[in-house]
Amino acid sequence: MLLKIESVTKKFGGLSAVSDVSLEVEQGTILGLIGPNGAGKTTLFNCINGTLAITEGKIIFDGVDISSKKSYEIAKLGIARSYQIVQPFGNMTTLQNAMVGGFCKTKIYKEAEEIALRSLELVHLDHKKDIIAKHLNLGERKKLEIAKALSTQPKLLLLDEVMAGLTPIEVQEMVRIIHSINASGVTLIIIEHIMEAIMSLSKRIIVLNFGKKIMEGSPEDVSNSQQVIEAYFGVEEEELDA
Ligand SMILES: Nc1ncnc2c1ncn2[C@@H]1O[C@H](COP(=O)(O)OP(=O)(O)O)[C@@H](O)[C@H]1O
Ligand SMILES: [Mg+2]
Repeated sequence: MLLKIESVTKKFGGLSAVSDVSLEVEQGTILGLIGPNGAGKTTLFNCINGTLAITEGKIIFDGVDISSKKSYEIAKLGIARSYQIVQPFGNMTTLQNAMVGGFCKTKIYKEAEEIALRSLELVHLDHKKDIIAKHLNLGERKKLEIAKALSTQPKLLLLDEVMAGLTPIEVQEMVRIIHSINASGVTLIIIEHIMEAIMSLSKRIIVLNFGKKIMEGSPEDVSNSQQVIEAYFGVEEEELDA
């Protein structure tokens, strides 16, 4: 297993945003993470990449206990993520933004540039490499966010709602991009509200509700589960249109 999460709990004061969650991620797979707003999905990402210290439990990545490691140490071990709110360095070019990740791997300018170009190609953004990032549209910023993460050459990539706000055509393209990232050897965990996208991408899906794992299974199992339909579709139906 590339990633093993064992009974992880993250409390904010009295609130358990993540509650006793265990899961495993096989090398090479795509795991989908779904659940209504506030279910604890982003918090779980923050725990995995060390942005937040976990309250209880254990996280093992690639055989290493990363439970109490700092986020830069975890990045060096090979976990990268995108953020739900995209935040490029606005006054730098697309290429320079992607190179920031590359400098985690090498101090040589030319090498960082090559790594960054490869990342931009993977997300279909290489033709915009010389554009100042603040002039990119939302879809392009989402791609750049992924390219920045890819440039750290991760083994595991965590994508937090990279399709939110995209047009249906852009969503289709993003699905293809995520497939090609996976085909290049990167294992992924993806948080997404767009059901069609998550169902077609994920090999397995885990459902969180109020911080707890309420189900795990194939996309088919999950979409047929009454418990999931009630928790996810029932409570937050308006989310589905987002
Ligand atoms: N830094 C924080 N401090 C306090 N509460 C937080 C913090 N981050 C998230 N929460 C709370 O934890 C719960 C889970 O949030 P989050 O992980 O963002 O959910 P999701 O990504 O599934 O929508 C929510 O109730 C949220 O308000
Ligand atoms: Mg979230």
